[in-house]
Amino acid sequence: MSIISVVGPKGGIGKTTLSINATAALTRALSSGKLNNRICLLDLDLRLPTITSLLDSHPSKTFYDLFECLGKKTYQTDFLKIVYQLATHFQAYIDGKIPARNEKLIEVFHHYHVMNTDLFLASEFKFGNAIHEMLMKRGEVKNISQLKKLQPILKKIDLDEFKRILEEMNEAARPVMEEYISYIEEYGFSILGGEVPILGKRAHRKRINEPEFLLRFLEFLDTVFQQFEHVIVDTPAGGVNHMSSLMNVIDQVLFVFDLSNNIAINGSIDAVHTFIDYYEEFQADYAKGQLTGLDRAHVKRLIAQKGKGDLYHSIKNKKLGLVFNRCQSNQEIVKALQMLREYLDTLDKYHQYKTRIQIVGMVPNNKVINITNNKKSLFYNMDIGLSERMDQIAKAILSENTICPTLADDDKTIISYLNKIKKPMLLDKLTRMAGSSTN
Ligand SMILES: Nc1ncnc2c1ncn2[C@@H]1O[C@H](COP(=O)(O)OP(=O)(O)OP(=O)(O)O)[C@@H](O)[C@H]1O
Ligand SMILES: [Mg+2]
Repeated sequence: MSIISVVGPKGGIGKTTLSINATAALTRALSSGKLNNRICLLDLDLRLPTITSLLDSHPSKTFYDLFECLGKKTYQTDFLKIVYQLATHFQAYIDGKIPARNEKLIEVFHHYHVMNTDLFLASEFKFGNAIHEMLMKRGEVKNISQLKKLQPILKKIDLDEFKRILEEMNEAARPVMEEYISYIEEYGFSILGGEVPILGKRAHRKRINEPEFLLRFLEFLDTVFQQFEHVIVDTPAGGVNHMSSLMNVIDQVLFVFDLSNNIAINGSIDAVHTFIDYYEEFQADYAKGQLTGLDRAHVKRLIAQKGKGDLYHSIKNKKLGLVFNRCQSNQEIVKALQMLREYLDTLDKYHQYKTRIQIVGMVPNNKVINITNNKKSLFYNMDIGLSERMDQIAKAILSENTICPTLADDDKTIISYLNKIKKPMLLDKLTRMAGSSTN
């Protein structure tokens, strides 16, 4: 399984266009005539998801439902499980059935004080109000002997009923992965992601900042990743800071360089630098065993899945690839390459990274590509010249960029690679003419 992420900090530079078409090209490259389901296109734009509408394919469940499910059910269920433990042990202590030194009681008493109540939706549980009251009393109940103060509140909770409801909730607690993945037969790949902007909802915005919640979201994504050979991740402008630990598991990053816009070029250069910095820091922290928070939890689970060696190898061998978009002349490419080289040089990073940054592909500025007309967002297979460009990118991805020139190569080699496409444009023109004459 490999994860390829398309990034670029500026809006409108072609990340989504590239993601969609690279997925189509990759699907073609892998298929042997029959339909397959080995590739997934993931829309990580949680604020403005577009892929489902661009491809006119609407999964039965989207990230919006997932957030609802993870938030309401999974989180709530796990939270309530702990509350149930608290309530039963506190009651047992009050009834004199267990002593204050009971180990489990000491443990749950500690939980009682450190529990994060932010995501608990009291109104959605039968004994929610009593639980809320119990948690509000935390300041007053400083040690186990003071637990008696909770007696009147605990009386309001029927523990048998609590247990029964909990069992019921548990049944429906985990999201069913298949419901979120939508396989598009027409294209031969799957999509996963949004439909409505989930970060438009306050509760969702709050949840995405909650480490426990985010970990569940990443856990879900990991499970999906396991189902596919390749996952292409379309990211929003500005990146996904809250999901930085997801960025750590990416195998290949494709930086989009929009050559029609100098500000965008500078932004993408900065993104390359940020990722270099980020991976260096991550690698150092991992080597020293100093990963913290979400990174640590996420990586721990990945190690359990993949094994330590594999993960270390993948961190050390991240592929950093460039894709030039809206290209109108070779000169623009040469200029952008020079800007990147100079920038890395000023950071004293050029020599270390010149062979690690690969030139993956190029997409010309082309009027065929037009997202405003939804049907044209997937231009792959509609224009031979453009399809060849995407095939080159797909081949590079499959070879893990080994077929690509690097920043260390001279401009001539790079330009010649970028223009080395199977069918010349002329053939494309002829094919189109032939096509129109038979219409
Ligand atoms: N090579 C190209 N030639 C012509 N138009 C292009 C090209 N690449 C992208 N576009 C157009 O540019 C617009 C923005 O593209 P796209 O939505 O892919 O950018 P994005 O980086 O994903 O934007 P956002 O940051 O808003 O998600 C679209 O209308 C798209 O059709
Ligand atoms: Mg986009």
